[in-house]
Amino acid sequence: MKILITGGAGFIGSHVVRLFVNKYPSYQIFNLDKLTYAGNLANLSDIENKENYTFLKGDIVDAAYLEDIFTNYQFDSVIHLAAESHVDRSITDPLSFVNTNVIGTVNLLNAARKLWKDDMQNHVFYHISTDEVYGSLGAEGFFTEETAYDPRSPYSASKASSDHFVRAYYHTYGLPVKVSNCSNNYGPNHFPEKLIPLAIYNIKNERSVPVYGKGENIRDWLYVLDHARAIDDIFHRGQVGETYNIGGINEWKNIDLIELLCDVMDEKLGRPAGQSRKLITFVKDRAGHDMRYAIDSSKLMEELGWKPSVTFEQGLSKTVDWYLENEEWLENVTSGNYKSYYEQQYENR
Ligand code: NAD
Ligand code: DAU
Repeated sequence: MKILITGGAGFIGSHVVRLFVNKYPSYQIFNLDKLTYAGNLANLSDIENKENYTFLKGDIVDAAYLEDIFTNYQFDSVIHLAAESHVDRSITDPLSFVNTNVIGTVNLLNAARKLWKDDMQNHVFYHISTDEVYGSLGAEGFFTEETAYDPRSPYSASKASSDHFVRAYYHTYGLPVKVSNCSNNYGPNHFPEKLIPLAIYNIKNERSVPVYGKGENIRDWLYVLDHARAIDDIFHRGQVGETYNIGGINEWKNIDLIELLCDVMDEKLGRPAGQSRKLITFVKDRAGHDMRYAIDSSKLMEELGWKPSVTFEQGLSKTVDWYLENEEWLENVTSGNYKSYYEQQYENR
């Protein structure tokens, strides 16, 4: 089986590529990535020489390039993760989210449809999406697969649009699609523009830790390897045409999470208890900041027997250890492009 995984040099994609390359030696895994600021081949240095792994540098917005590689490699299935993924960047530059997340997804759908037109049933186009498409919850309730879409940021609007196109290709052309919508991931290789790795980097370097608004927004956190395991289960055993929600059953208010992280890091760095909490700084809120996300994963758990394998305390401890042991990775990604973005994002807050 030849599987095209898009966005495999990014945070979640790199864990999915590693899992598939190591667990399925008889599959040929092709990782297509543009290597934007968020793509980093160092994430995959341990598997880059494996015989069943091939890296393809390319842009999913380039339809002619996609047609070429689909013709050359004859992919059997696609797992699509490539995206612009950061909400704050989508607020300053919505169009690049439209280009990659919407146009790029439609280009991939077209390439798959063209290649598979005579035997659709033997393939899978698996689209990886987010819980943010469902909008923002109040204090009660959970997102289920039936919750109506209500995206509220340019990022989530672009992901919602891509989800609609994927389902439209299933209904209109019979493309064998699967979709999953996951909550906030955390873990190794997470780019330090997102809350947890940014806070780890700043605490380590004794820089202020920016918390938006009053820190009362709630996210449902899932360890990235558990997301990769869910993707494996859904790709192999999920039903075509179906959607699966994936969540951590693990809601945290931002401020509580950051305080816990400060305490974990004080202990690991041998600092006096309470020292890192002094770095917490409340800054101007994100525009249109969604209040609460919480996922009901019972369909995935009941149908496919998936459940998270680590508690949040275990996952957070492993994550902090990884960042402390991989200083070079962290220093590399916090230089260059990322730094100028960081200044632009936080200088006037
Ligand atoms: P990421 O930003 O870390 O990685 C995205 C990858 O896509 C990068 O390697 C980047 O180089 C690549 N890419 C971007 N534009 C491209 C283009 N035009 N052509 C080819 N490659 C391109 O993202 P992530 O956090 O790993 O998220 C992966 C997917 O999972 C995304 O679709 C995202 O919407 C979804 N998702 C993320 C989370 C999360 O918490 N991070 C949760 C749910 C769903
Ligand atoms: O829910 C899934 C989504 O989770 C994914 O689809 C996105 O790709 C991913 O980026 C993530 O989106 P969030 O906006 O929830 O993640 P982020 O890490 O940017 O922010 C988490 C929360 O922390 C959110 O309430 C905003 C807040 N925050 C974030 C940053 C970067 C801060 O308080 N301070 C910060 O510096």
